[in-house]
Formats: sequence, structure tokens, C-alpha cells
Amino acid sequence: MVVSLSRRGDVEPFHAMDVLADANRLKAEGVPVISMAVGQPSDPAPAIVREAAAVALKAGRIGYTDALGLPELRRAIAGHYRDHYRIEVTPERIAVTTGSSAAFNLAFLAMFDAGDRVAIAAPGYPAYRNIMAALGIEVVEIELEGTAYLHAEHLASAHAEKPLKGVLFASPANPTGAVIPVDALKALIETADRLGIAVISDEIYHRLAYGAPDTTALAFGRDVAVINSFSKYYCMTGWRIGWMVLPEKLVRPVERIAQSLYISAPELSQVAAIEAFKATQHLEAVKARYAWNRELLMKRLPELGFALAAPMDGAFYAFCDVSRLTNDSMAFAGKMLKEAHVAATPGRDFDPLQGHRYMRFSYAGSHDEMVEAVARLERWLK
Ligand SMILES: Cc1ncc(COP(=O)(O)O)c(C=O)c1O
Repeated sequence: MVVSLSRRGDVEPFHAMDVLADANRLKAEGVPVISMAVGQPSDPAPAIVREAAAVALKAGRIGYTDALGLPELRRAIAGHYRDHYRIEVTPERIAVTTGSSAAFNLAFLAMFDAGDRVAIAAPGYPAYRNIMAALGIEVVEIELEGTAYLHAEHLASAHAEKPLKGVLFASPANPTGAVIPVDALKALIETADRLGIAVISDEIYHRLAYGAPDTTALAFGRDVAVINSFSKYYCMTGWRIGWMVLPEKLVRPVERIAQSLYISAPELSQVAAIEAFKATQHLEAVKARYAWNRELLMKRLPELGFALAAPMDGAFYAFCDVSRLTNDSMAFAGKMLKEAHVAATPGRDFDPLQGHRYMRFSYAGSHDEMVEAVARLERWLK
């Protein structure tokens, strides 16, 4: 028999998963590893979310829903735009997705053809690059080279070199935590519009900014595609539930592709997610703990030699320049895990060119864990 292998399957592995596998192996051997490697909240979903799921499970059948999601959830998401951003979005423009990960697939498939050039920032979330590469889209990585976020000028000069069809950015960003200030966001979107470049704004870390209020890209353009998720602020990573706000013209193409790719997002998670917007008091307490962790790491990591490579404006990440300690962050992360029992993510996943100089620490864990991790790193580095 012939085993057929496509070139598309030949994407980069997610190197952080190797660190994670090693951390899990050590944990299984009874080693008390502190994981600052994974980008997920350590808290469960809010109680009212879990209760809604329990009621739905008990009531019986969980089935397919409309491909674009349960009308009640789409209305709840539209309500969130009204309450949080003071922006009117009709529920018809909202597509509920299997996490934001599925939203990327749907957006890329509906917006771009193979060979189209789409810009992303480096460092950036690796799945953007990997999904686009698998779909045959030409990924144009714009090296930020020390600037915290993608500027309008970056976009204009990449486009001048060879025209772009789209741009994708996140604010707050993974791995840097950087937030694009309002004026710069406006300039970026207006520049994209002027140059005929389609915009995708990944807003998965909204509600997790520590300095400025959230501004959605929708404030500067009705035709941007916004992607968001219940994974991060709402502590629902494993529920695999997210959403998109789409320009009207994209709704039907996304619906058609979603019908065939996924049929629908899981109904149980959709029923539960309706309640998530009511859990603000609880979720703000979780965020306050991240802010407390952030204060600690912002002070202590640079003192230990982990220079901050970007301002810790949002999300729950510290992105550090480790070139004072190593020029191979992958090997360094492995050694740190084995000897100090602290897991963090090497920068390679986020930036194939410069990543060897960087590491990402997630501070979504408990405060006690952060205190202990810092103490272990200090002992180890001595
Ligand atoms: C910037 C960014 N976007 C999207 C995702 C994917 O999240 P999910 O598919 O759980 O919504 C992540 C996960 O870490 C992320 O960091």
C-alpha cells in the first residue's frame, strides 16, 4: 500500500509541546514541577457556566446546532459588544466556532486563496503561521525588531515590497503581552484599508489588559474580521468554544465552509458559554490574581537576568530576552526544567529567526506558585 503524504502536513511542530511532555513526565515521577509553559488559566470555568452544562447534560440529548451557533449565544455575544465596547453588532454577523483555532481556519479559508500573501508579526502565536502554511497561504512574517507591536509603517513597507492580501494581529499579544495603543490601532487599520489589505484582529486576550481599556478593531472598521474565544478570560480552554464577528459579505461563505468542516461547535459548550458573560465578578477576581502575579514577575524576572523584551501590558505572559543567560533558549528551557523544576516556553515557536534569544513565562497559575518559581530560579541561577 502507498501512504500518501502531502507537503501541507510538513508544518513546524509546536516545540513548546516537547517541554510540556517533559514536564508531564517529571510530574508523573512525582517531581513538583511548576508549569509556566502553558497559556491557559489554572482556574476552572465559572460555577454558573459549569452548572448550565450540568443541567443541559441531565436534560438529555446534545446535538448539532446551526453551523453559526445557537441563536441565544449569538445574541449574548452581541450583548457583550454593546455592554463592553458600546458597539452595535447584529447577532447575524456572529459565528460561533470550536475555539478561536477553528475560527482561524474558517477565516483563512473564506478570505484567502492559496498563494495569497498575509502578514503577521514575529514574534507571534505559532498557529497563525502553521495553519496558513498548511493552507498554502504565503506567510509574511514582519520582524518587530524590538518594537512592542505591529505599526502602520511596518505594514506599509511590507506591502510596498510585495503586495499583501491580508494582515493578522493580536492585541494583547501572545507571546509578548503587548497592547497596541488606540491611536496606533486606528492608524494600522486605516492604513490597511487604504492599501486594500484585509484585517483579522485576534482579540482572544481582551478583558486581560492591565493598563488601558479594551478597544476592538471594530471601532475603526466595520469590515474587519474579529476573532475571540471563551478560552482565556473566561477560563474555558477545554470547552473549545470561540466566536468571530464578520463583515456581512463573509457570513455566508464562512457558514458554508463551517457546515462541511465542523457542522457546528459543541452544543454543550455553547449552552454553557451563554452564562459566561454573567460571571464578571468572579472572573475579575481571577484577573486580579494575574495582576498580582504580574507585579511580582515584572520586578523579579529582570533582577534574575530575564530582561523583559516587551511591556507586560496584557494577557498573562512575560516575554524575556535571555541572551544574557544563553543563546539557545530551547536547551536552556530543558535544563531549567530538569534542574530547577520550572517549565517555561522557549521562543523558537513564536519566532523561528530570533526565538533562540527569548523565553515566555505564563503567570496564569497561583500566586504561591509564582513566588516558589522565582525562588527556585534564583537558587538555580546562583
Ligand atoms: C493569540 C492566541 N490566539 C488564539 C489561541 C487559540 O485559542 P483557542 O483555540 O483555545 O480559542 C491562542 C491560544 O493560546 C492564542 O494565544
